[in-house]
Amino acid sequence: MTKFKNLLVTGGCGFIGANFVRYLFEEAGFKGRVVNVDILTYAGNPESLADIAEREGGRYVFVQADICDREKMAEVMDKYEIDAICHLAAESHVDRSIVRPDDFIRTNIFGTYNLLQLARERKDRIVRFHHVSTDEVFGSLGPTGAFTETTPYSPNSPYSASKAASDHLVRAYHETYGLPVTITNCSNNYGPYQFPEKLVPLMTLNALEGKPLPVYGDGLNVRDWLYVTDHCAAIWTVMNRGESGRVYCVGGRCEKPNIDIVNRICDDVDRLAPPLENGQPRRSLITYVKDRPGHDWRYAIDCTRIEQELGWHPAETFETGFDKTIRWYLDNREWVDRVRSGAYRQWIDQNYTRR
Ligand code: NAD
Ligand code: DAU
Repeated sequence: MTKFKNLLVTGGCGFIGANFVRYLFEEAGFKGRVVNVDILTYAGNPESLADIAEREGGRYVFVQADICDREKMAEVMDKYEIDAICHLAAESHVDRSIVRPDDFIRTNIFGTYNLLQLARERKDRIVRFHHVSTDEVFGSLGPTGAFTETTPYSPNSPYSASKAASDHLVRAYHETYGLPVTITNCSNNYGPYQFPEKLVPLMTLNALEGKPLPVYGDGLNVRDWLYVTDHCAAIWTVMNRGESGRVYCVGGRCEKPNIDIVNRICDDVDRLAPPLENGQPRRSLITYVKDRPGHDWRYAIDCTRIEQELGWHPAETFETGFDKTIRWYLDNREWVDRVRSGAYRQWIDQNYTRR
């Protein structure tokens, strides 16, 4: 049972945010109200929660707003008597941060600061500020070892540097002002509703459509993969039972080199979709391209703390989670076409008005 009544979720129209809101209503049995604040960048799609909006009525409220807007965010926190915050809103794509860091600095650093300051001013009501962060703040590993909660920060991209800065601000608001905070640093997520710029949906859709599959460098960079709903469960566990001021690393104990992921996607799509016109297996689409600058070589998470202290464990194996994911992208072409075409913006205009 949770003590939260009015939960503010930022970035709830993005990949993890939409899965988190869905998780709250469909799996966690949350009985309170969720207020989802999302500015709707290219990565935000309220259609991902259309069924929830219809089914949950007033228990789900969507507000299109910028987390950097002090007045608007104050209005939301007071109007809906927010008592807990799960902060996911961010610019999240490393490649974009390399090309144009501006929005990463603004949203990830200033936006987080703005929310912290507003929460501090409402400390008598706000019982938890949870910050959803990334393992990328720790930098890159060699062939052995894993990140833990005490690994020194060493971010290598503008994205990870902006997330590191936001983590430090969250920590500082706890130490200096006594704000009740928790932070999770999680590894790579995969699952439904992920914008098709990220490795798994990009490769799946390109494979389906017979387009080149651009593997960066030698394809041997390693990521630790976790099914998105398991991340949502970890966030909810930490929000409810994690100790204030404490950090929890979250991962799938599932390290894979990128090329293994891409090969697996090719084989799954060959099995589940019609063959390519030229009859070639999809692995023939793999194209090695110039490496990402500052490309972190390996991530791995040691999630002993959250496992032992809070009893969280992933429910999905890589096999079950990956199979669901590939099938979801093959079965939800309408969602894919809309997020890729930008046509969902018309849907927003028809279904939502700015509040
Ligand atoms: P995403 O890019 O899919 O979604 C981000 C959402 O934030 C979008 O809906 C976007 O519209 C919204 N947003 C952006 N700027 C905003 C602003 N100024 N005001 C209000 N809303 C704004 O990202 P995601 O993959 O769902 O990641 C969510 C969070 O989880 C991020 O903080 C990210 O750093 C963190 N994270 C992601 C992963 C992963 O594998 N995707 C892993 C660990 C941590
Ligand atoms: O580790 C957690 C992080 O995981 C999150 O904080 C980020 O928000 C999320 O985007 C993700 O970052 P990555 O950079 O690891 O994810 P991405 O899907 O962009 O890339 C995964 C790996 O695949 C990475 O080593 C780069 C490589 N890659 C990616 C793309 C898009 C390719 O080889 N080709 C590609 O086209």
